[in-house]
Amino acid sequence: MRALAENVFSVGVIDWELKMFDRLIPLPDGTSYNSYLVKGSEKTALVDSVEPAQVDELIAHLITAGVDKIDYLIALHGEQDHSGGLPDMLVLYPDAKVVTNPKCKSMLIDLLDLEEEQIITVEDRETLSLGDKTLEFIYTPWVHWPETMSTYIKEDRILFSCDFLGSHMATSDLFVSDEREIYEPAKRYFAEIMMPYRKQVLTNLKKLAELDIAIIAPSHGPAYDNPKFIIDAYTEWAGGEVKNQVVIPYVSMHGSTKEMADYLANALIERGVKVSIFELAEVDIGKLAVSLVDAATIVIGSPTVIVGPHPHAANAAFLTNLLRPKTKFASIIGSYGWGSKMVDQICGMISGLKVELIEPVVIKGAAKNEDFAALDELADKIVEKHKEAGIY
Ligand code: FEO
Repeated sequence: MRALAENVFSVGVIDWELKMFDRLIPLPDGTSYNSYLVKGSEKTALVDSVEPAQVDELIAHLITAGVDKIDYLIALHGEQDHSGGLPDMLVLYPDAKVVTNPKCKSMLIDLLDLEEEQIITVEDRETLSLGDKTLEFIYTPWVHWPETMSTYIKEDRILFSCDFLGSHMATSDLFVSDEREIYEPAKRYFAEIMMPYRKQVLTNLKKLAELDIAIIAPSHGPAYDNPKFIIDAYTEWAGGEVKNQVVIPYVSMHGSTKEMADYLANALIERGVKVSIFELAEVDIGKLAVSLVDAATIVIGSPTVIVGPHPHAANAAFLTNLLRPKTKFASIIGSYGWGSKMVDQICGMISGLKVELIEPVVIKGAAKNEDFAALDELADKIVEKHKEAGIY
């Protein structure tokens, strides 16, 4: 149990070994499930619990610290990696009340089978006194579920932001000790979890700007005692302009699409464009997601499999569509043997993106001179579009 401020403690669990989150996202740096104990002069609150599989460790931390009474179990978010420990907390502290918002209340009843009378609800900007400490609840919806909220200790100027502004990083640091080290995990987390909600991120950042914040304590990763660092990063990632960058996720069965992807990458590099290229059979999708935060253009490379895209290319297209990056332009490259509807199918898969399609280059068999010329033309068009967008 370590102190963020006087009588405000971090009591959560570091998971050094978890390799996948939600059976989807690789976690190269592990994660943590942060839970915070706030001891006021009259009442004690626990802000969020932990993943159910880790709840024994949370209980051990509380028992070791001699916490024999908790009055309020604050649930900032219904997802089980923060709410899932609540049933055990209610067994340990049967007189405690769960404090949450009405939307989250209904989720906690659905997900955890909590009883109505165990829960009290708070409205946006409502306060809860713990004696010499006051919790203010601030609704911060859609980062990343509709019910997500934050809470702020007025006296200590600490904001508990739950998933918002977090990072998947297992570290012994209570506070970020090296901003260069946290930047990439935080950006990766933003790309995977927050990027589809960029508008809501910006709205919530504006709302938080009304507060005088000394510490941001999220529910994953270390806390920030320089809140400006992560606020500025989120402002740029969510609302900044796209950059002169092209992302090329591709997969190749017999080498033709690989040759095209490599050729296009070199053509773009020669023209002064930054390129990130990902071979999709072995890609870490987190890295692909990070590259999509800033890129102006995505070019998906795929061979044709039974007239459609290769499943790995379809997965990348589906994921990109899901993550809703700022990307402005898209194209497709690849080859086929006897016939292909690959372009139409990929276009259907990225229909949620607000992108302008640049004429795809899809060839029969292996690339020949005229195909390389078409790829040069594609590189020229991308440069032209980047110039028109004012980013070249
Ligand atoms: Fe960390 Fe949305 O749960």
